[in-house]
Amino acid sequence: MIICNNDSFVINTKSTTYMMYVDKYKHLRHLYYGSPIPHDAVGLEWIEGPDDIFIGDGTYYREDAESCFLANQLLEYSSPGKGDTRESAIIAEYDDGQITFDFVYIDHELLRDGQGRDCLTIRLKDTIKPVFLSLTYKVCEEYDVITRSAKIENQMDEELTVRTFSSLMFDLPDADWQLVTLDGAWARECTTHRRKLEPGIITIDSKLGSSSCEHNPAMALVRVETDAFHGDAIGFNLIWSGNHQDRIEVSPFSKLRFLSSVNSFGFAWKLAKGEGFQSPEAVMTYSDRGLNKLSENMQRFVRNCVAYAPFAKEDRPILINSWEAVYFDISHEKIMSLAKTAAALGFELFVLDDGWFGRRTDDTRGLGDWDENFDRLPKGLKGLADEIHALGLKFGIWLEPEMVNEDSALFEQHPGWRMSIPGRTPSVGRHEYFLDLTRKEVSDYVYQSICKVLGNGVDYVKWDMNRNMSDYYCAGCDTSQLFVKYIQSLYSIIDRVREAFPGVLFEFCSSGGNRFDLGMVGRMDQGWASDNTDALSRVGIQQSLYQFYPTSVISCHVSDSPNHQTLRRSWLEDRFAVACFGVLGYELDLEALSEEERAVIARQVAFYKEHRRTFQHGLFRLLPSRSDNIRFWSIEGDDEIIVLETQVLNEVNTGTHDRLIIPFADEAATYSLKRRVPMLPADGIRPIAKDYSVLAKEEEEEIIVSGKILKTCGIALPAKFMGRGVRPGIRVMGDFGTDMYVVRKID
Ligand code: DGJ
Repeated sequence: MIICNNDSFVINTKSTTYMMYVDKYKHLRHLYYGSPIPHDAVGLEWIEGPDDIFIGDGTYYREDAESCFLANQLLEYSSPGKGDTRESAIIAEYDDGQITFDFVYIDHELLRDGQGRDCLTIRLKDTIKPVFLSLTYKVCEEYDVITRSAKIENQMDEELTVRTFSSLMFDLPDADWQLVTLDGAWARECTTHRRKLEPGIITIDSKLGSSSCEHNPAMALVRVETDAFHGDAIGFNLIWSGNHQDRIEVSPFSKLRFLSSVNSFGFAWKLAKGEGFQSPEAVMTYSDRGLNKLSENMQRFVRNCVAYAPFAKEDRPILINSWEAVYFDISHEKIMSLAKTAAALGFELFVLDDGWFGRRTDDTRGLGDWDENFDRLPKGLKGLADEIHALGLKFGIWLEPEMVNEDSALFEQHPGWRMSIPGRTPSVGRHEYFLDLTRKEVSDYVYQSICKVLGNGVDYVKWDMNRNMSDYYCAGCDTSQLFVKYIQSLYSIIDRVREAFPGVLFEFCSSGGNRFDLGMVGRMDQGWASDNTDALSRVGIQQSLYQFYPTSVISCHVSDSPNHQTLRRSWLEDRFAVACFGVLGYELDLEALSEEERAVIARQVAFYKEHRRTFQHGLFRLLPSRSDNIRFWSIEGDDEIIVLETQVLNEVNTGTHDRLIIPFADEAATYSLKRRVPMLPADGIRPIAKDYSVLAKEEEEEIIVSGKILKTCGIALPAKFMGRGVRPGIRVMGDFGTDMYVVRKID
């Protein structure tokens, strides 16, 4: 709920309050964000205190405003030139190069948006020029989320060039915070980093043309003492798939400023009279119960308010993907034989990955030509789709529609459609080039080619994008708008395709997780988080993502051992256990496996189906763990909690049990914990387990325990193998091992 009272604005969600007010100079100032405070609490003015601090060498606002130091105030949106020398939310130039603005409050409007959410727009205007700034705040009360966006409008006769424009600016009164970010590179996306903030500016951004695997736009501010369960945490994300820029500044007066924007790198948006620029929406949430509550807010919000609505709450099919099974070695026979095996094991969707079209026999050629290769698929796509459908499987296809190879019919016909600078040899990534989507004829071609492919009975698309932008140039607009216009054009193609094919599911992918962001989540149903499918690596990547994204949008595959990226060997059941925490798929040659391994997979697929709603639509939370070597994950569905223990290395002779604590257990209830007893294929990975029958227990093991115990001290899990004492029922986890429990209330 939003309360507008004279000069103050109070945004209440279920467990948070956000306050701002207009001061006597009509500046919009930030007052408070945190646990709920009533809008009429006595002494609100003492939250901030009077403007009575005099900064010796400071610039004060004007002669009659001696203690108005904008550089030391908490503002809602800052601009340069009137004393605030911190990072600005907006930098825009008049014709003559001036950049000074002084935005003051003029009015506000409180509305309900299409989703029934309160929506406040506060309008500001420069004191002397007809340049208007609108700040919009939308409330998602039940998820404790506020979204923010901004719009600038030029009503001057002269042109205005916007160079920096933030969606969100957020000032905090102290800087005793740490910054949590998700950083990485190809195949090692999303490592969580946590750093102390010191005076100065940190920029976390992407200049790759996409939101990037280098720095995800999701991040958080946390107190030093904050952990998964306790402490303050403020989370942010940007609903944008292009270059982003997050700036975090600690001022000389130990105030903290956070700014989330479309990147100002290569950005200059010229506004003629009557024109405006609308920022993408940014998201913020506050938790007073650590990172789990922050993650809970983000998961619920994304699922309910951002995720592509038609399928957001639908169950996703279990897929088999051809990439790591056959790579480019595609033939109708091979695909059909893989599909038959998959169907027999209970799979629901076959995804034909790269290599099915044009000249595409390797990654140097073919992109841009979206016609099936009849040498490889003599019955065409339609013939293949029909046969796959006849097996009871849905049929999915890989596309990389934004790119072109030089060795392609498309490039031969339209060399000018490639993004490159006239007269300059273009740089290249994976032998491919961007198509200039800012040109209408190019985006129309892309749209039509996708429609042509989908007309062949396709139920699912994996939409890939495998390089970063270089040679910034476009013919469809001013190149200083390229990074934004490219994404706007991409969004419009996706929207048109989805409208034309409403029944088709979409997965976004960009060399793995190079474009894993809320812009994509809002347009496609699930996303490929990383090309790294190694279970141990995935534990880190997925756990980072769960802080900001729900499992329903994270695709996770079981792949081969040794893993194709890390060369690490791991057990099939462990690979499955980690991949369960998301939308499950497999990406390996099922036919190269032993009968026994295929039987394990059939049992895994059946288990996932039984618990699919929990895995895909449940609420992820971290559980306490005694060491960094061991993690406990949980996912809570309607009627069950699934717990996963993972460990990096097997420790010998620790003399302790691993302890399972579920802090959110219902203390009035009694729970049954059933261990998912893994099937142990004789693959020779575990030396002690030469005779697996010694260890295996056929029946599920059950522990009955009160919620009070689970919630407080927790339970000691049965012993793990720690060097001695092989006996039936011992938990054999080994290096990179896992162990799973299904927890249900029994009364
Ligand atoms: C990169 C993707 O991330 C992979 O999963 C696969 O689809 C390849 N591209 C195919 O070229």
